[in-house]
Amino acid sequence: MAWGGGWGGGGGGMFASSSNTGLPFGGIPSELMEGANKILATEPTHEPSALEFHQRPSAKERQRLTLPRMLREYPAFVVLGSVLVIVISLVMQAGPLLTEYAINNGMMGQHRSLRVIAVCGTIYMILALSSSLLQRAQVDVTGRLASRVMHDLRIRVFVHFQRLSLDFFTEEKAGVLMSRMTSDIENLQQLIQDGISSFAAQGLTMIVITVILFATNVTLATWTVLLVLPILFVFSIWFHRASEKGYLLSRDRIANVLADLSESLYGIRVVTANNRQRRNIENHRHVVGAYRDANNYTGSVSAIYGPSTNMLGILGTGLLLGIGGRMVINHQLTVGALIAFFLYLNRFFQPIQLLVQQYNSLQQGRSSVIRLRELLETVPSVEELENAATLPTIEGRITFEHVSFGYNEDNMVLDDVNLEIAPGESVAFVGPTGAGKSTMAKLANRFYDPSSGRVLLDGVDIRDVTLHSLRSQLGVVPQEAFLFAGSIRTNLSFGRPTITDAQIEEAIDVVGLRDLISRLPDGVDTIVHERGQTLSAGERQLLALARAFLARPRVLILDEATSSLDLQSETVIERALDRLLEGRSAILIAHRLTTAQRANRIVVIDQGRIVEVGTPRELLSRDGPYAAMYEAWLASGGRDATRDDE
Ligand SMILES: Nc1ncnc2c1ncn2[C@@H]1O[C@H](COP(=O)(O)OP(=O)(O)OP(=O)(O)O)[C@@H](O)[C@H]1O
Ligand SMILES: [Mg+2]
Repeated sequence: MAWGGGWGGGGGGMFASSSNTGLPFGGIPSELMEGANKILATEPTHEPSALEFHQRPSAKERQRLTLPRMLREYPAFVVLGSVLVIVISLVMQAGPLLTEYAINNGMMGQHRSLRVIAVCGTIYMILALSSSLLQRAQVDVTGRLASRVMHDLRIRVFVHFQRLSLDFFTEEKAGVLMSRMTSDIENLQQLIQDGISSFAAQGLTMIVITVILFATNVTLATWTVLLVLPILFVFSIWFHRASEKGYLLSRDRIANVLADLSESLYGIRVVTANNRQRRNIENHRHVVGAYRDANNYTGSVSAIYGPSTNMLGILGTGLLLGIGGRMVINHQLTVGALIAFFLYLNRFFQPIQLLVQQYNSLQQGRSSVIRLRELLETVPSVEELENAATLPTIEGRITFEHVSFGYNEDNMVLDDVNLEIAPGESVAFVGPTGAGKSTMAKLANRFYDPSSGRVLLDGVDIRDVTLHSLRSQLGVVPQEAFLFAGSIRTNLSFGRPTITDAQIEEAIDVVGLRDLISRLPDGVDTIVHERGQTLSAGERQLLALARAFLARPRVLILDEATSSLDLQSETVIERALDRLLEGRSAILIAHRLTTAQRANRIVVIDQGRIVEVGTPRELLSRDGPYAAMYEAWLASGGRDATRDDE
């Protein structure tokens, strides 16, 4: 099941220095080409064909998201990084030991020796140099580890998005989802890149120093531990709780900021037209302010924890100076040992400071993991059965069997709908706004599952077959035609990337787009911008129709596919529809009754129920709801389909 392949074209190819796709990108200057190609030669090529997508997540994909599990994928990096962190922590601690040795054996009393001092100095410098080299290597290793883990995570979340059902995207704001992919993932990247290794290094340093402190002087070391650790421990537990709460809050609020931002940008035309700018700014200030408050909270928690632990260190040092000084006077300790002890003590408290900072980023990363985990654990409401069969090529019999459905429990939209559409038959759904027509279409395509009853294709419950095999036989032109940023060609071949140029040309002629294409500077290679904004609504509909025409599905569902067209285009489309529908079953949802009249049968839906079914001729002669609708349609200037149909 290759998936998404070929879209956007030519992944992994060399950069061309000229571009004929109409992109504003002018190509890479020739003097840089060599360099660019060299870089590309070392990049792995992402062959689209190597990619597989299954609706059901594999056992591995279902695993709970945890940091250790993410890291475990790259054992070599983790091991190498850990070894480097350990070695660096050890090497860094040699300084005071050398100082102690140089003082006691090179400077004091009868031990004066320039040689000892010189040797100690040289070793000191060599160790300092090598520790900086080792640190460089460590940053490199953890940086690579972080970028790999984040790459995997981004893909994992994106794949998860592809699996989720429509209701998820209706309920979740796009901006919130974006923030999971941006700020949450970046937090984690930061954490893996520096956070964990620094945290480990600082923690390790503290352990190493504690050992050294005890080796230097047991009494003094015991005092240090007794004075500092209990308070530090209690304090850290408080900080852990307070900051976790704060960071989760701040994750949610940044998500709100992005959600508000994306909605405002998306709806900028409506905002401007309604003079909503001032209110919008106010609203945005509100969400940004809430985010600031959350940051202030975490900031103040850190502000209490950081300086307090610092003070703890200073007070402890003062007390130890008294205790240690007395020991020197009583000849229980050498001066060199006392100095070394204090040098270490300094290094003991320094990492506490750093640990606080790292702990912050650790907490921040943890709350991101929690949010991402929640996201990854959302189960699609439309799930594929574990042993789902592949739907064989169907004839196209669509059956709604006692179908009831509501988007939420207490508001039923469809109520016990029964309908059978024969293979090759086209059926028009008509009825007032909000009656449930689009909902019927969504159920046929399994965007949602009925609350009760069944939808069958050729007698097979569509819940029993794979979503891929189901949707590859259904062509849907939704009520709002959507185009992707890219060329018209890629948009047309969206459902079937292997389409030939000749087929594209044919589709363009069939839906009557020839005029538009010949007006465009680059023909079918013209780039349409995000959501197809550079085209008119009618043009977008025509392209969406051409897309469905090219996909050649067994069953076609057109939801108001002609609603934005002028009369002339509509006539063209109606002719196109006749060709498109040849031999296919189809559901045509139409407010324009001219379109409905072309169907074999008409189904009138009102308030979630089928109120009338019959051929156009039957319904017109019956004096029921459809006849009344048709009357009103003619009165409002609608084209009489019964007359120009000759
Ligand atoms: N995602 C949704 N969540 C909750 N309610 C919804 C959702 N989509 C539609 N509805 C409601 O379901 C009812 C039927 O909607 P539907 O889109 O099927 O109407 P329709 O017959 O296609 O109308 P129109 O002719 O305006 O397109 C409406 O009352 C609508 O408010
Ligand atoms: Mg609709």
